[in-house]
Amino acid sequence: MTATAAPASPTLAKGLEGVIAGETAICNVGQGQLIYRGYEIHDLAAHATFEEVAFLLLEGHKPSSSELARFTQEIVAERALPSGVIDFIRTTGPMLKSGTAVPMDIVRTCVSILGNLDKESQEITHEANLRKAKRILAKVPTIIGHMQNVIDGREIVEPKTGGDPKLSHAANLMYLMSGSKPTPAYAKVVDVSLILYAEHDYNASTFTTRVIAGTLSDMHGAMAGGIAALKGPLHGGANEAAMEMLKEIMHDVGEKGIGTDAVDNWMQNAFDTKRKLMGFGHRVYKNGDHRAPILHKMGRAIAEQDTKNPGGHAALKWFELGEHVQRIMLAKKNIHPNVDFPCGLTYFTMGIPVPQYTPIFVASRVTGWAAHIMEQHANNRLIRPIAQYNGPDLMSWTGK
Ligand code: CMC
Repeated sequence: MTATAAPASPTLAKGLEGVIAGETAICNVGQGQLIYRGYEIHDLAAHATFEEVAFLLLEGHKPSSSELARFTQEIVAERALPSGVIDFIRTTGPMLKSGTAVPMDIVRTCVSILGNLDKESQEITHEANLRKAKRILAKVPTIIGHMQNVIDGREIVEPKTGGDPKLSHAANLMYLMSGSKPTPAYAKVVDVSLILYAEHDYNASTFTTRVIAGTLSDMHGAMAGGIAALKGPLHGGANEAAMEMLKEIMHDVGEKGIGTDAVDNWMQNAFDTKRKLMGFGHRVYKNGDHRAPILHKMGRAIAEQDTKNPGGHAALKWFELGEHVQRIMLAKKNIHPNVDFPCGLTYFTMGIPVPQYTPIFVASRVTGWAAHIMEQHANNRLIRPIAQYNGPDLMSWTGK
């Protein structure tokens, strides 16, 4: 007999909380720090670009300047979408308008179509996976941009090239969405948000991609599954949900109510009705999410700058409301904001449409997903936990 015996008494862990489900060399999520392949997140946010972090995650080490130039060139060359995907995006206006689909669903379908059109789609060697990962990384911002053009009823921006080769991943994403090149300050903030979103060990969407990859299924399929998992408001969808919640509070209490008891009363009602406040809490971080203060500081600086701009949309009031909500949450519940809370505020300040916040998260997290899919394929074991049965007792189908 060669089969490994099952553990004597496996224990039930709802939501797999506290379970070590595997190993990884890609990321270390701890109470004290968040590390990507040996580099701490504050260090990366302050000193690296998203392209450098993407290289680090995908290729496994910090790039030299020539490696970075080669990688950047590879990504830029893959930005344009096949005509089949552009044709599909052109048809999505009515779906998005009627609400049968939201942008995350469109991104998911586009990634599936990209797989259907990819000559290497069924190849799961490390080399093929790496090439496919770069193609997906390059193309997700183009999907988001073209989709936003359809939503806004403007001509698709740069359909032949997928952008301006001189622009960074972050700046090109913003350019494709609006047709206007972002200021360096805006591009920098989006770049940092992409760094913060790139990787987070066995979070729900990454675990999903590993489960799919663990059956020896393919990269595009695993990514489509990851996108579906990320969409939910308990995970990446929280960046949109957090901003919608703040809009609801602002609507209910009015601008004059910021900083007054009106917000406290709104929050108390939420607590009394056991409502979950979006953008707060974390399964692992119980003393705060390391990423949140980094983005909050940068987003607030943009908002402060905007109040000084003629015609600026006075975004600071949203940060003031957010900070008041954070104070109450900490005082009453001892729960900290996660990265999605300042992300919602920051993207809103920059005028990015709310339904694109989670797709932008995808534009970054594909790097982490791809790294995990490759790691899973390199040292695979089928992921297949067991369940504790709590259904009916045994019955006879014929009633005898
Ligand atoms: N609002 C109100 N109460 C909360 C919240 C919240 N956001 N988060 C946790 N709690 C309460 C929860 O109700 C529970 O209280 P009690 O013990 O009285 O029942 C207690 O805190 C422990 O929470 P939990 O639900 O057991 O914690 P969890 O580890 O299962 O949940 C979470 C983690 C992220 C699902 C949860 O905090 C949540 O639903 N947050 C809101 C959604 C959100 O912001 N998600 C983004 C997660 S991080 C980044 C990302 O993935 O994109």
